[in-house]
Amino acid sequence: MSEQIKIVVVDDVEATRENIKKLIEFEPDIEVIGEAPSASEAIRVAKTLKPDIVVMDINMPGMDGISATEIMATEAPGCAIIIMSVQAEQEYLRRAMIAGAKDYLNKPFSGAELSQAVRQVYTNERKRKRGLTVEGKTEEPGKIITVFSTKGGVGKTTLATNLAVALASRTEAKVGLVDADLQFGDVALFLNLLPRTTIADLVRDIDSLDDKILERYVTEYNEHLRVLAAPVRPEQADTVTPAHIEKVLRSMRDVYKYIIVDTTPSFSEVMLSVLDASDLILIVSAMDLPTIKNVKLCLEIMESLNYPPEKLQLVLNRANTEGGIDVAEVEESLRQRFSVTLPNDGKVVMTSVNRGIPFVSGYPEAPVSQRVLHLAKSIATSDWQGEKERQGVVGKLRRLIG
Ligand SMILES: Nc1ncnc2c1ncn2[C@@H]1O[C@H](COP(=O)(O)OP(=O)(O)O)[C@@H](O)[C@H]1O
Ligand SMILES: [Mg+2]
Repeated sequence: MSEQIKIVVVDDVEATRENIKKLIEFEPDIEVIGEAPSASEAIRVAKTLKPDIVVMDINMPGMDGISATEIMATEAPGCAIIIMSVQAEQEYLRRAMIAGAKDYLNKPFSGAELSQAVRQVYTNERKRKRGLTVEGKTEEPGKIITVFSTKGGVGKTTLATNLAVALASRTEAKVGLVDADLQFGDVALFLNLLPRTTIADLVRDIDSLDDKILERYVTEYNEHLRVLAAPVRPEQADTVTPAHIEKVLRSMRDVYKYIIVDTTPSFSEVMLSVLDASDLILIVSAMDLPTIKNVKLCLEIMESLNYPPEKLQLVLNRANTEGGIDVAEVEESLRQRFSVTLPNDGKVVMTSVNRGIPFVSGYPEAPVSQRVLHLAKSIATSDWQGEKERQGVVGKLRRLIG
């Protein structure tokens, strides 16, 4: 028999606590070692009993589950928190996950759902504590890099797909590419893929999401790159909630070292979930006035969201577009320098899209590819293998058969 998972149940309603205890009383590997009727009592109990997992209601009189989650992250760092809520509290749920909750359960849930969540969180936490990935290599959680803009048609998907392919081909790391343009995503099209499953299918399995289930819904691009495609039909976009996205990205961190997210030009709840979860946001601008105005607004909103400046990088696409404005003027009006500028190269970019072969692999020597590779290198730092891999026979083969 494996070791027992110790849990504490927190809910202001006694009957709910009793009910939850009953749901798992016959689970041989889970033991309820304590309970609490309030968030403040929960913190005290967690500090003294040191459970593996605290299953906590989100809405309680006095301090709520979100604040308690935040406090426990520092005061009882060994305990992982699973938040319980009712369906209508999606926005709270998003905040709870940001505060550090590891999973959530929608009330009412079954004993099987509860024990599955408890076991999954426990296994993930043990892996994390040992600093081990699935393969047993020492690794940190993956980095989420989001390509965003407040304008459509500026080159987000172009950059996201090429960046993902660049990272996958020039590092040994596993890379995940998520199409969070849920209504009109075209990442799969850019990569010439025909996904059999999409994020809309994945969310139907969201409550039992783990590494294996995730693997079932992603589409293979090559040995190192997996794509989580956008729903096939725009109306399916509504089935994906901010909390779903939060959970998907969180579990992708355990599997992929770099997760690139393509987005839509809006500050919708889903987009805010993506942006909050991101380690780095690449904001794409162009040289025309409407785009510059919107990017300026975007930077202001990011500031009001309290994102630290190092989380944001400005990317200028189609930099050499004729139009009477120069790069220095744009930087001055945005009061920020561009980290990367990509040239306008209709021939290379359009041919790549039409052939479904990203330019970083189809035309690696083109200036636009070189700039994206440079950006990828600055993200990958010590993982970057540059030309080394590409010169070897393995690298050449990999490029040919991708
Ligand atoms: N650097 C570039 N040079 C030339 N054309 C580009 C460049 N970047 C993007 N494009 C073109 O602009 C169009 C919009 O790009 P896309 O990546 O779909 O934008 P978004 O995802 O922001 O809506 C596409 O047709 C693409 O081929
Ligand atoms: Mg796009």
